[in-house]
Amino acid sequence: MKQERIDKIIATCSSYSRNELKKAAKDGRVVCNGETVYDLSKKADPDIAEIYVDGNPIKVKKYTYIMLNKPLGVISASDGRGEKTVVDILPDSLKREGLFPAGRLDKYTTGFVLITNDGDFAHNILSPRHHVKKTYIVTTDALLDDKALSEFEKGISLSDGTLFKPASIRLLDRNTREYEVIIVEGKYHQIKRMFSHFGAKVIKLHRTAMGNLTLDHELASGEARELSADELLKISQKDD
Ligand code: URA
Repeated sequence: MKQERIDKIIATCSSYSRNELKKAAKDGRVVCNGETVYDLSKKADPDIAEIYVDGNPIKVKKYTYIMLNKPLGVISASDGRGEKTVVDILPDSLKREGLFPAGRLDKYTTGFVLITNDGDFAHNILSPRHHVKKTYIVTTDALLDDKALSEFEKGISLSDGTLFKPASIRLLDRNTREYEVIIVEGKYHQIKRMFSHFGAKVIKLHRTAMGNLTLDHELASGEARELSADELLKISQKDD
């Protein structure tokens, strides 16, 4: 994530003189990412900072990054050809040209979907080379035995030749047969196929995190909000 002094960002996008800017900041007339900036030596990311002087936009964000708590029955696409998509259900205040989901959840999977118009960022986090973790809560119709659990941890090889990289798996609740599973790739129906390999059917699937960024508990099903630069950084972080 880039960081640049706010006065430098403003200077490159406007004709304000240094003195005019200093005075505007002192008077509380400079706003960056929703906060009044009195000290122009503070830094922000020039690619995503949104800056206003006297209420006039100096720099609007190039890209938008949105966390959605996807509800059941909505498809992960930008054009649903008649079906409701994750982009359709965003509030008007977040809608922009070119938004698409960075990675897909199945129609009946719920939870964290990242929606953006930044193709490079999406490409990076989805690339199998980058191994961005995805964390799911999985409810199944049957418990897995120890052998299956150790195969999850070692990597699963399906009879059709598909190989799934090692995943981490933890039983959360024996009674409700709920597991937490962390995978580092995003193959088609991956979690369902992993469980089905051991004869267990996935009944409910919910994504709770991407990288080190956890789905905001305050977001009810169907709700969305923009991510901060720090949160965005957490998605591509590998370590806890
Ligand atoms: N694995 C699945 O089977 N479905 C999803 O939606 C996500 C991961």
